[in-house]
Amino acid sequence: MNIFDKLVVLSLPFAPKALVKKFAGRYIAGETLEEMLDTVRQLNGQGIMATIDLLGEFIHQPSEARQAAGVYKSILEAIARERLDANISVKLTQMGLLLDKTLCYEIMDELVSTAAKLRIFVRIDMEDSACTTDTIALYMKLRRQYDNVGIVLQAYLRRTLQDARLIMKDLDKIQSKGNFRLCKGIYVEPRPLAWKDHALINKNFTFILEEMFKQQAYVGIATHNEALVWEALRLIDQYRLKKDEYEFQMLLGVDPELRNLLLDGGHRLRLYVPFGKDWFAYCTRRLKENPSIARHILKNLFTPSHIQRTP
Ligand code: FDA
Repeated sequence: MNIFDKLVVLSLPFAPKALVKKFAGRYIAGETLEEMLDTVRQLNGQGIMATIDLLGEFIHQPSEARQAAGVYKSILEAIARERLDANISVKLTQMGLLLDKTLCYEIMDELVSTAAKLRIFVRIDMEDSACTTDTIALYMKLRRQYDNVGIVLQAYLRRTLQDARLIMKDLDKIQSKGNFRLCKGIYVEPRPLAWKDHALINKNFTFILEEMFKQQAYVGIATHNEALVWEALRLIDQYRLKKDEYEFQMLLGVDPELRNLLLDGGHRLRLYVPFGKDWFAYCTRRLKENPSIARHILKNLFTPSHIQRTP
């Protein structure tokens, strides 16, 4: 990121919320359950699957975790009622991981069990490295009981290849295959824990993806990076995978052209559909990753509306 983009990103928290929403609105599916369902219906109509995320990671009280789990249950019921092609993505910190691990497990156990009865899959998102070990442990405990749960692994972490191998070895013992989402990783991690070089992260992504395919795991290949998409297509071809043995995953609002290219190629595609009242922090994070959009916002802050162009 160049200095100008850094300045843009630093000024984002001070931008008026309404303006951020106008530009970043494409990354979120609204604030309410109904708005989100509308987005999912539209995506399904275009042959795109969804994974639904209720925004709001950090909580301070157990009651907030129970409340968030309650919203997820309403989402599960709506998916089943409307027969939507969708599952849910859950962050364990939102379910109380940092407050009380036992509480977090109890909440997740109930949520995954409800989802299992409705035949809906639950994806556990991966958060920053302080949560990795506990997230994997809780996932494995759930996985021994339920088939409908999977985890996310991040290619930028030095530990991930080993984690993937250990998880797949453990699953082998219960005659099961892994179901992963593989992504680069979005948090700022220290060098001893994570690779910093983009080319190395890409290499590691491809290396881990191949390990997963070798073990016949189902992988949600979560990237908007065309070089990685190419590597994934190469491996899909090499391992002669059928269309229902993997899927591509992208974030709502990011690179619709790549999304269409994948769909036209006949690949399964799932979009990450975040919604909820906590949209501001999420949008700011998206904008930090793509400062060219943030630049538009800043430009508009200082440009009279009569000479603004639509982005
Ligand atoms: P790269 O960073 O090379 O991006 C390629 C291009 O896509 C960029 O040039 C940019 O224009 C555009 N782009 C990428 N990401 C963008 C964004 N967010 N906003 C705007 N433009 C963007 N991470 C994590 O730590 N834990 C998790 O659980 C998840 N879950 C997850 C689910 C899904 C479906 C996706 C697609 C991604 C995640 N991530 C995640 C985020 C992931 O780790 C990563 O940070 C981003 O996907 C960016 O990396 P890319 O591989 O897309 O490539």
